[in-house]
Amino acid sequence: MLINYDEYRMMYEAEEKLWWYKILHEKVLNEIQNKFRENKQIKILDAGCGTGGLISFLIKHGYENIQGFDYSEDAVSFCEERNLNVRQADITNFESIFAKENFDVIVNDDVLYQFDNATIKNIFRTFHSILKSDGIIITNNNAFTIFYGTHDIAVGGKQRFILSDFEKSFSDLHLKIVYYSYWSLILSPLILIVRLIQRFQLKLNIIALKNIKSDVTVPLNFINNFLYQVVKVEERLFRKGIFGSSLFMVLKK
Ligand SMILES: C[S@@+](CC[C@H](N)C(=O)[O-])C[C@H]1O[C@@H](n2cnc3c(N)ncnc32)[C@H](O)[C@@H]1O
Repeated sequence: MLINYDEYRMMYEAEEKLWWYKILHEKVLNEIQNKFRENKQIKILDAGCGTGGLISFLIKHGYENIQGFDYSEDAVSFCEERNLNVRQADITNFESIFAKENFDVIVNDDVLYQFDNATIKNIFRTFHSILKSDGIIITNNNAFTIFYGTHDIAVGGKQRFILSDFEKSFSDLHLKIVYYSYWSLILSPLILIVRLIQRFQLKLNIIALKNIKSDVTVPLNFINNFLYQVVKVEERLFRKGIFGSSLFMVLKK
């Protein structure tokens, strides 16, 4: 299921400002720099790129060889407003579009939640075939069912993940998880309370399903900055987070 036009507009407007996107984009950049150092010529694919916030962010950091795709025409048209190299394609069937062993980096952030496990495995099989032998896959996904809330409904979420959901299928596919981290530990209690309240409201029919929106809204500036700084401190304290509403992973062949 695809999210609606208003959700893409919210994503487009929030992704340069919202603490959560800023942290995620910096995490991706950090892993690319760890692996490829000063090399900005590497070829990057953003699979399920949404409205293009990550691609724009990476271009601002000097990466020029980036392309993306998304199934939604709305998402692609927002990317076109940003002049990005993005096309419409279906992540469940895109192998024929790209040449084999083509990319140094494949990013796939928060797309898998809408697919069943067999489909996810096929998606990674395709990633494997278009990834260069020393390339990396970077993927962030929603984690732990306990964090289920209205956001999941708004974006058509079928599941939330833990590491073991991926470990087995990746070894079958000859992909190794070289780094993972759940985030954000410190904000977990807050996120959990919000999601529990949402679930309670849903149960009591206080929120109508048709009025549900995702959490992609920028809060007041000082709250947004505070949340950003909290996660930055957490990242300085622990390189590998043990719990949180997202699971960030880096894989290689
Ligand atoms: C939560 S958004 C994440 C977007 C982006 N990766 C980000 O981090 O902001 C999920 C994206 O997956 C896209 N999507 C859903 N089904 C897809 C499919 N079959 N093929 C490609 N993209 C798909 C949606 O259109 C949406 O843009």
